[in-house]
Amino acid sequence: MPLVTTTEMFKKAYEGGYAIGAFNVNNMEIVQGITAACKELNAPVILQVSSGARKYAHHGYLVKLVEAAVEETGLPIALHLDHGPDFETCKSCIDGGFTSVMIDGSAHPYEENVALTKKVVEYAHAHGVVVEGELGQLAGVEDEVNVSAEDAHYTDPEQVYDFVTRTGVDSLAIAIGTSHGAYKFKPGQKPQLRFDILEEVSKKLPGFPIVLHGASSVMPEYVKMINDFGGEMPDAIGIPEDMLRKAASMAVCKINVDSDIRLAMTASIRKHFAENPSHFDPRQYLTPARDAIKAVVEHKINSVLGCADKA
Ligand code: G3H
Ligand code: 13P
Ligand code: ZN
Repeated sequence: MPLVTTTEMFKKAYEGGYAIGAFNVNNMEIVQGITAACKELNAPVILQVSSGARKYAHHGYLVKLVEAAVEETGLPIALHLDHGPDFETCKSCIDGGFTSVMIDGSAHPYEENVALTKKVVEYAHAHGVVVEGELGQLAGVEDEVNVSAEDAHYTDPEQVYDFVTRTGVDSLAIAIGTSHGAYKFKPGQKPQLRFDILEEVSKKLPGFPIVLHGASSVMPEYVKMINDFGGEMPDAIGIPEDMLRKAASMAVCKINVDSDIRLAMTASIRKHFAENPSHFDPRQYLTPARDAIKAVVEHKINSVLGCADKA
């Protein structure tokens, strides 16, 4: 099976009340850890690449790694550009084998976001590629852009119908209180998502797939492991899993997770070196790191996404 778009995945996910995991990939071990879990649980998956990942690993390497995973697993896998910043980056990914791109115009004024997104959609659709747009702005860090909690703002449900019909996007990322990175809420703050906004949005766009960014739970066992083995992470609070599960049962068809994978990988490597200070063969510490990524993704599929056996 070749790489697929998200069209079929989202249609089934919407109807079935579950979501597809979209995991960020930067190197071979991350691709292998994620897809090994999906293979074991027969789950469809979106592997997403940020501009930072393209800069780090180079486009061609990531495409080949993902193609190898498709061949190895036989699963429906979509290759997606995460947070495409401009038309040129989206075009380069469309021309270079991606099946899905995000154009993130959320920081622009509304009309500019519409015009930019529409331009990407026209090019993408002419090449058989689907597009995710974004309305509203999440807090947190993505690439080099840091949006403070004060500058973040929720999606306005009154804009979504106009945005989707004028741009022609295939899915829409919305801001309902999730945020990027490991520090989503202040210490002592109670995590909260605006399900009322999600509900309003899905009323305006019946059957239309919604995307949640910044959806790591910041799994406490890995934060603890990092600190147990020499790390100095301050208290970190993520999105509670029951809230993500609820969103997946509603209109949310794609849930983005990067930070939880980073934490698991780092925790595992720290533990490995603390217990084996003389090791220097990368395979010795990357094998458990890859296993830790697999365990995270299995956990997400079973406890958050509900997409086991949906491949
Ligand atoms: O939303 C951002 C993702 O976590 C990707 O992060 O831009 O550092 O690769 P990155
Ligand atoms: P997290 O930082 O919560 O993992 O979010 C990742 C994300 O939204 C990638 O686009
Ligand atoms: Zn994101």
